[in-house]
Amino acid sequence: MRKSKPNPGSSKQPRIAIAIMAAGKGTRLKSKHPKVLSEVGGKPLLAHVIAAARQVVPPEDIFAIVGYQADRVRQAVENTGVQFVIQEPQRGTGHALMSARRALANYDHVIVLSGDAPLISPETIAMLRDFHLKHRPAMTILSAELEDPTGYGRVLRKGKSGAVQAVVEEKSCSPAQRKMREINSGFYAFGVEPLYEFIDKLRTDNPHAEYYLTDMAEVFRKAKEQVVAVRTDNPSEILGTNTRAELVDLDRNLRREKCMQLMAAGVTIFYPETCVIDADVEVGADTTIEPFVQLLGHTCIGADCRIRSYSVIQNSEIGDGVLVRPGCVLDEARVANGASLGPYSHLRPGSDIAEDAHVGNFVETKKTRLGKGSKANHLTYLGDAEIGEGVNVGAGTITCNYDGVHKHKTIIEDEVFVGSDATLVAPVKLGKGSYVAAASCITEDVPADSLAIARSKQIVKEGWARQKRAAKKGG
Ligand code: UD1
Ligand code: CA
Repeated sequence: MRKSKPNPGSSKQPRIAIAIMAAGKGTRLKSKHPKVLSEVGGKPLLAHVIAAARQVVPPEDIFAIVGYQADRVRQAVENTGVQFVIQEPQRGTGHALMSARRALANYDHVIVLSGDAPLISPETIAMLRDFHLKHRPAMTILSAELEDPTGYGRVLRKGKSGAVQAVVEEKSCSPAQRKMREINSGFYAFGVEPLYEFIDKLRTDNPHAEYYLTDMAEVFRKAKEQVVAVRTDNPSEILGTNTRAELVDLDRNLRREKCMQLMAAGVTIFYPETCVIDADVEVGADTTIEPFVQLLGHTCIGADCRIRSYSVIQNSEIGDGVLVRPGCVLDEARVANGASLGPYSHLRPGSDIAEDAHVGNFVETKKTRLGKGSKANHLTYLGDAEIGEGVNVGAGTITCNYDGVHKHKTIIEDEVFVGSDATLVAPVKLGKGSYVAAASCITEDVPADSLAIARSKQIVKEGWARQKRAAKKGG
């Protein structure tokens, strides 16, 4: 997908790569983890940048430059199909591009993105590319006017011509320069040939003793190569995440945006600022989400549902018309149309709740199928169980699925009635239409249509309490 216009002088389409700088440690986050794996909107920073880049060039033309904990970073985004370049050690953004020299040798231009600026849009990357290809300078800088430019490099322009002179890092700015509001976004486009002809001229005589990619502006100017800057109309897209406070700010922005998108698609979200909804979550129209709900990972919720407050739903699939009462926790669960959950149900991985089934308060399920219209309404644990249709699971029922070494299955066929406080010691099977008396401890299979009672017989001692009271009084 190369939309760029060919240079009038050449008949060939220019070959364009995208390099994403993602090798830094992120010292300012004070974390032992690599900065680009910090999450906003429920996804690593780098995954956001790659997703945007993939809308502009195919993944085989994207090079993630990794270094600090390179294996971890690579693993986290490997599924995107991008290429990787190792920068070892990490000696600055200029050095990152030095490390990519071989990888980029077969390209005409490279767009450089920062792995820690996750809001960049494909449209802005394409705008940078088109501007660069139109003017063909050695270096195009994407700049932005920020209300508060603190922390960013400033773009210095020369007098009226506006030609770019240099980029000055905040730490090296004079007081006058510090007041300038045109900042370097950390996104660039370069001609590959001039970049590698001059990149070795970078020096490390700066406060961090690093090779700054930003210094290429000055290097090119001295070499009489052209450097231009193009301002973005969407300065919020270039915001970086050098500190925890910036990370949390971006996270809030992304989630607000996500809520707005869902609302535009017909979802009601009350007090959206209290809800945490990840980027890839899908919700159908006419579903209502109450305050303080979290919808995480690859969760998909159908239409006409109500998700009540304090529910946390992760990587789960919920059908249409489902009621999730307050305080439910779902992880890798499936809930079919018309079912209802909660309050306070815990559906662990492998829970599969069929149509119109009910899972009530303080019920935990794991690797369990609860059939159509079946009910487990109170205080129950159902693990490794296959439960048919129209089953009633009484209050306090426990599947004893674990013998300390192995997990075993409980099978409950259609129309079974399990009385309250039954313990079902797996492996065990309750045949179709059978009954289990309350408080039974079931250790053997129960045949279809039968009643199993497994508890000691009740003994009644007439007058016992009266006699006891009398004895107490007399003594
Ligand atoms: C950089 C720019 C600054 C700009 C800002 C925009 C430089 C010297 N400064 O500053 O002008 O305003 O971005 O956000 O470039 N990285 C590597 N290898 C390294 C060092 C860093 O791959 O050796 C990666 C980091 O992982 C990060 C990106 O490059 O994703 C930017 O590095 P960072 O240290 O955050 O640069 P800033 O100080 O933000
Ligand atoms: Ca940064």
